[in-house]
Amino acid sequence: MNNTELEIRLPDNAEQIDQDSEYCSVRLDGVWQEIRFHDYARIFTIPGLYEQLFHDILDCRSPDVVGKLLKEQVQRDQVAESSLRALDLGAGNGLVGEQLRAVGVGHLAGIDILPQARDAALRDRPEVYDAYHVLDMTALSEQESRTLAAAGFDTLSCVAALGYADIPPAAFRTAFNFVRDGGWITFTIKDRFLSADDTSGFAELIGRCQKEGLLEVRASERYRHRLNVRGEPLYYVAFVGTKHGDIPAELVP
Ligand SMILES: C[S@@+](CC[C@H](N)C(=O)[O-])C[C@H]1O[C@@H](n2cnc3c(N)ncnc32)[C@H](O)[C@@H]1O
Repeated sequence: MNNTELEIRLPDNAEQIDQDSEYCSVRLDGVWQEIRFHDYARIFTIPGLYEQLFHDILDCRSPDVVGKLLKEQVQRDQVAESSLRALDLGAGNGLVGEQLRAVGVGHLAGIDILPQARDAALRDRPEVYDAYHVLDMTALSEQESRTLAAAGFDTLSCVAALGYADIPPAAFRTAFNFVRDGGWITFTIKDRFLSADDTSGFAELIGRCQKEGLLEVRASERYRHRLNVRGEPLYYVAFVGTKHGDIPAELVP
C-alpha cells in the first residue's frame, strides 16, 4: 500500500470522550471533516486512514500480538503453519489477515458485515485473502452456511471486533462453530468485557465455554491494544485456545 499522508487531528476536548464516542478530524479536499472511530464504513473508504489513525498515531498493537501468540502455540504443537485454514471474523481492511499470512497460514477467508471493509481489503491488500465474504453471522443464508462449512476451517481469528456495537456473542458462536474440533481459536477483547460487571455478554460466554471444556485457553496476554484520544492506554486481552466442541445456543447469554 502506498498512500499519501493524510492530515489528521485528534479532538481538543478529549477528556470528555469515551472509547465508544472517539472521533478525529481529517482534511479531505481542503475541508476538515469529523469522523467517528466506530464509523468504519467511512474510514475504510478513505485509503490509508485506518492505518494512519489507529496504527501510526494511536499505536495499535493487536494484529502483532495475536500473530505472535498464535505462532508460538502452533510451533509448540509442531503444526505446519501452511496447513492452517483460517477464518478472520471482523476482518476489516486486512491488517490481521496480513499478520496471519506472515505467520504462514495456508488458506485464509475474511468475513465482515461491511461491504466497505471488503472493498478496502481488496483495494489495499489484494493478495491477503483467498475469499472475503460480506455477511451477517447472525443471519446467514443457507448458501452462506454451506460455503463456510465447506471451507473446512481449523482456525478462527477475531481481533478488535468483539463488543460495543460490533460483533455480538451470537455471531462469535456461529463463527466458532465453523471451526473443526481441535482447531485454533484466537481473539482479542477489551479487558472490561471480561470483568464481573460486563454487559456485552462475552465475560459469561467465554467463561462458560471454558467451564464446559469447549474452549481450552492455551495462552492469554493482557496488553496495550492502542492509545485513546487522550494518549492513555486501552487494555485488551488476547487469547489463543483449542476448540473441543461446538457452542450450544443456550450458552449464549
Ligand atoms: C476495529 S475493526 C477491526 C478490523 C481488523 N480485525 C483489525 O484488527 O484491523 C472492527 C471490524 O469488525 C467489523 N464488524 C463489526 N460488526 C460486525 C459483525 N456483526 N459481523 C462482522 N464484522 C463486524 C467492522 O465492520 C470492522 O471492520
